[in-house]
Amino acid sequence: MSTWSLGTADSLRLTVLVDNFVDMLMVDEPGLTRVGMPEHFAPRHGTPLAENGISFVLEVEHGRRSTTILFDAAISAHALQHNAEVLGVELSSVDVVVISHGHPDHFGGVYGALEAIGRPVPLVVHPHAFRTRMITRPDAVLPFINRELSADALRSAGAKVVEVRDAMPLAPGVCTSGEIATTVEMEREAPKGRLCLCEGHLEPDPIDDYLTLVVNVRDLGLVVLDPCGHAGVLSSLAHARNLAGVDRVHAVLGGFHLGHPGISQERIDKTAAELASLGPALISPMHCSGFRAQRAIAEQMPEAFKQMSVGTVLEFRA
Ligand SMILES: [Fe+2]
Ligand SMILES: [Fe+2]
Repeated sequence: MSTWSLGTADSLRLTVLVDNFVDMLMVDEPGLTRVGMPEHFAPRHGTPLAENGISFVLEVEHGRRSTTILFDAAISAHALQHNAEVLGVELSSVDVVVISHGHPDHFGGVYGALEAIGRPVPLVVHPHAFRTRMITRPDAVLPFINRELSADALRSAGAKVVEVRDAMPLAPGVCTSGEIATTVEMEREAPKGRLCLCEGHLEPDPIDDYLTLVVNVRDLGLVVLDPCGHAGVLSSLAHARNLAGVDRVHAVLGGFHLGHPGISQERIDKTAAELASLGPALISPMHCSGFRAQRAIAEQMPEAFKQMSVGTVLEFRA
């Protein structure tokens, strides 16, 4: 249990600034607004771009105050800045940036984001996000995939870098997760071909810099953003519930990292069943979740499953 109280937020407005998917044929539903066909066929500022990356903007209200958080920065500044303009997202109002981990599809646009924010803001990141990382696979050897991410470069771009290992409150009812232990056995999958430089030695990369974002919305429960699933979505949810001291999971969104060909269908089906047992009102497998996981989750939870698309805005308020 945590030694601090997470508290509650009065409401959360969540914008999908960047994701892998965009679709103009989706329509609005209560609490969920789409960028639809009218905005695509008669755009005032252009149409939203999808790319292999993820970025959320959270506007959290608490009393008469509000806090705006940019969570992750997609893979390119191009899509992030373009989508902000198209969607009318004022990046200059961002109060704090959080980078979930040191993979390029989550930090790639961060310098463009800081430029658009235009003033010094705190940027929360785990120190291991800066470790030298590489990927070795039969089809590709990619050395130093996170070369662009450095504390010095971030500071030069205007960030006040805040390195965290533990959970950290960002506003009433909102926190970063801190390090997440993978407690669900089937999620303890050693990453293959991912290496990091640790005290001069190349070792299997534990991706222990991975952070989620947890929002406790008054009278609804937890909204958990798990952008790349590196701790396992079930383990991340267990961590969030324990951290917040709140059982009720209202919504889960993000990349559940079940898209690799090597992930078994059995694991996907078990994950979907476990997620269903938590009874979320909304669940959105995005980014790296993969089609098989999207299909399994949609079948298990046809009412709760909501396909996200770039520009989707969700309102969480009791
Ligand atoms: Fe990742
Ligand atoms: Fe990712």
